[in-house]
Amino acid sequence: MKTEKIEYFERFDDFCRAFPMPGAFLVVQDSNGRPNPMTIGWALLGVVWSEPIMTVLVRPSRHTWGLMEKAKYFSVNVPAGKLEKELEYCGTHSGRDGDKIANCGLTAVPGSIKGVSILEDCDLFYECEIVHKTGVIRENLDPKITGTFYPKGDFHTVYSGRILHAYRNLS
Ligand SMILES: Cc1cc2nc3c(=O)[nH]c(=O)nc-3n(C[C@H](O)[C@H](O)[C@H](O)COP(=O)(O)O)c2cc1C
Repeated sequence: MKTEKIEYFERFDDFCRAFPMPGAFLVVQDSNGRPNPMTIGWALLGVVWSEPIMTVLVRPSRHTWGLMEKAKYFSVNVPAGKLEKELEYCGTHSGRDGDKIANCGLTAVPGSIKGVSILEDCDLFYECEIVHKTGVIRENLDPKITGTFYPKGDFHTVYSGRILHAYRNLS
């Protein structure tokens, strides 16, 4: 697989176009180094603490949440307008029930650093180190948003990752 380093802000328009639909893949490894992809429809890319930061939101009910709680790293993988079926699969099936990568024919390869996997089927890659997490706080949230997105009270955990490597697929 051939890749080329990009600045985190290059291709920002393509990054934004992925959200909220069709989405992108959040990939986290388990304690044995096995990657699990989960479709995300929300993400933030910008500068915080004077560093490039990627922020993702994961509900505690997700298998990915348990992995994120133990992981040091995650990757965000943005497809180039393809992979709709795979995004749908990884957004409706849990890694608790099987190997989603094998089941939907994706290919995971090691990222630039140990502990990170990426999906070579994608176009843009962001390898991130978790530097902060917090819950969405009901008391601080617009009640309209609470009503729309949290009728069951399953508030996301918000994870922010320092972007260590950003690159694009040249293959
Ligand atoms: C388009 C789309 C976007 C999604 N975005 C998110 C998200 O940002 N955060 C989240 O927790 N779940 C999101 N989901 C739901 C998870 O992808 C879904 O529950 C998945 O099966 C969880 O996989 P896991 O149990 O292997 O972690 C989304 C689903 C779809 C289809």
